Amino acid sequence: MTTDLIQRTLSDQLDPHRPHIGVLTSGGDCPGLNAVLRAATKSAFWLGYQTIGFERGFEGLIDPVSYRILTPQNTGDILGLGGTILGSTNKGRFGARAGVDGRAELAPGLLDQVKATFERLNLEGLIVIGGDGSLSTALQFHEAGLPVVGVPKTIDNDLSCTAYTFGFNSAVYCCSDALDRLHTTAESHSRVMVMEVMGRHTGWIALHGGIAGGADVILLPEIPWTYEHIVDKIEERTRMGRNFTLIVVAEGAQLPDGSLVKKDASANKGGNLQVKLGGIAECVTHELDSRIDQDVRCVVLGHLQRGGGPTTFDRVLSSAFGAHAVRLIVEKKFGQMVCHDPPHILDAPIADAVGELRRVDPHGSVVQTARAMGICFGDTPGYVNPFDVPREA
Ligand code: F6P
Repeated sequence: MTTDLIQRTLSDQLDPHRPHIGVLTSGGDCPGLNAVLRAATKSAFWLGYQTIGFERGFEGLIDPVSYRILTPQNTGDILGLGGTILGSTNKGRFGARAGVDGRAELAPGLLDQVKATFERLNLEGLIVIGGDGSLSTALQFHEAGLPVVGVPKTIDNDLSCTAYTFGFNSAVYCCSDALDRLHTTAESHSRVMVMEVMGRHTGWIALHGGIAGGADVILLPEIPWTYEHIVDKIEERTRMGRNFTLIVVAEGAQLPDGSLVKKDASANKGGNLQVKLGGIAECVTHELDSRIDQDVRCVVLGHLQRGGGPTTFDRVLSSAFGAHAVRLIVEKKFGQMVCHDPPHILDAPIADAVGELRRVDPHGSVVQTARAMGICFGDTPGYVNPFDVPREA
């Protein structure tokens, strides 16, 4: 790259003579967003592009259009920074639903405004960093002929076509760290601890966080459970001389009667269309408290799982996703989403990624691993041999 070009590309003023790549972060934040922005900006820079970062998700694309020029300098220190320097929202004029909540069509006229911004800023492509709701909005852009690509973001890890979304590993780390802390206090007081984790309608965080943090019981949306089986497990542990029990419950797990525990309507303001889950740990704690003599305590991990910086795994994954997204734009592979198919970074149609939630396989190897260690999913009375190997009577 010539010195002149480097100087022009480093400028944080809009350069009408350079090709532009747009990027935005949409939906709930998660660790690794800034690392994706940094990687995309750096990759675009070396290819001679100027990067435009739109603020507050899709909102920055329309009146009042708001953006800032991203450069290798002003994104240089954000690799390990949590949140997103661009801001994000999961409500507003683009509040879109996807997955089990169904797709919501964008209001007529919005797409025309977005098209006008693309033309005015001479965008060769837009990188949408988001989960299923935001990517289903990106899909509507693509269907309208706009050049967009996607990067899968969510702590929930529930997008199809990718083994991992960035942010998930950091949330799992938070969960296992919390369990390590609960372990010592539970053991000291011979208590049962019930910890609620996020994940919406899938149990990825609960499953992986539970295994990583040494949970004894894990309750998932994908596996129906009963209180009787949980009490059996607690009693079995007592017989084994373990006077405490760690229970992880996914916010989207159904109660034994099949119902979901939701927050009241006040949790949804300003066009946020998604069902707000939360409160199941309180229900489980209350019920167990009435069934056993031990003390039972409740912890809701909440937004701690989304805050803070990314783990090393998420830093690498975010960097790879950001760089690959730029490559997709350069190759004009629009309508595609970056994905991780270990060990490869590939891409798949956004339409396939948002069509169906990726749920935990109740018969998959991670659940089998847990069962092999005696972790209870609340669906069986005691240990169930998950492998096709004989067990001594
Ligand atoms: O999708 C990410 C997530 O953190 C879910 O796990 C959780 O149910 C939801 O977002 C919480 O949303 P909000 O930040 O709007 O309360």
